[in-house]
Amino acid sequence: MEKRTVIIDCDPGIDDSLALMLALVSPEIRIAGITVVSGNVPADQGGKNALKILKFMGQLDIPVCQGAMVPLKREYISAKDTHGEDGLGESGIPEITEASVHPGAVDFILDTLKREEKVSIIAIGPLTNLALALKKEPLAFQNLDMLVSMGGCFKSYGNCSPVAEYNYWCDPDSAEYVYQNLGRKIHMVGLDVTREIVLSPNILEYMKRLDQKECQKRGAFVEAITRFYFDYHWKYENLIGCVVNDPLAVAYFLNPQLLSGFDAYVAVETGGISIGQSVVDAMGFWKRQPNAHVLTQVDSLGFWSFFLSRLYGMEEERIRQVLKDLMI
Ligand code: RIB
Ligand code: CA
Repeated sequence: MEKRTVIIDCDPGIDDSLALMLALVSPEIRIAGITVVSGNVPADQGGKNALKILKFMGQLDIPVCQGAMVPLKREYISAKDTHGEDGLGESGIPEITEASVHPGAVDFILDTLKREEKVSIIAIGPLTNLALALKKEPLAFQNLDMLVSMGGCFKSYGNCSPVAEYNYWCDPDSAEYVYQNLGRKIHMVGLDVTREIVLSPNILEYMKRLDQKECQKRGAFVEAITRFYFDYHWKYENLIGCVVNDPLAVAYFLNPQLLSGFDAYVAVETGGISIGQSVVDAMGFWKRQPNAHVLTQVDSLGFWSFFLSRLYGMEEERIRQVLKDLMI
């Protein structure tokens, strides 16, 4: 089967790292490159973190390009409180010296779109790079196959305000610009579905027991970068475990039946008390053409079975049988 060409635009970021790990072990896709945007941490730190993940997964040949350091208009506010000063849960993973981050993420996105017949973009950070690319050369996006964006929320409460999710809250102007100008339906993987994806102590322990030599201690690596995240979730959300948003966007791209939803017109609020809110016109009040496919239902057991089967190269059904008892 022909591989699908993908760019992953991210702000690594603890959950971004899990998303990258899943993408890197999935044979259906060819990652043309990783573009980094300021979000959880500034884009220069995010670029270094992307290299750390590529190194751990043995794929440092994949190019990493640094993008926007600040949002389109808003003052930049990081999520270091959630992801740690280094963006990887203060796990102290050594800097990578055998590869470097390239500049020019926006041009990388445009050049890839113009060079390849079909390119999909999985965006798991603020949409600044995509907005800048769309503004610069909108025609290049005629080769866009699919845009999946982890961001927003429909009926779920926000994680940055009562109504706003971080990626769209961090840069609401870019999110609004992309939703209003892309001209294609954006697959919105928002908090309504990602909140169901909780890395629990049980799942983490199971991962560590699945660790084998050839899988480079992937469970231990995930534990190292999520410990800080577990503490955050206990302190602020009274949750034992951590919500890992981004890998669900990659899993949806690879395995769309894990999620379901509906088409709707979406606008992102760019000011005022509800800045960053993704307003989903589910009832068609505004009689606007749908510009989004809003995901609202998720098979969380199916996600974890898929995620672990890919990470460990194991038969999915075997993992599902174990996870059924571990996922309370
Ligand atoms: O709101 C969650 C999203 O914001 C995730 O992508 C997380 O990594 C942060 O970027
Ligand atoms: Ca992210």
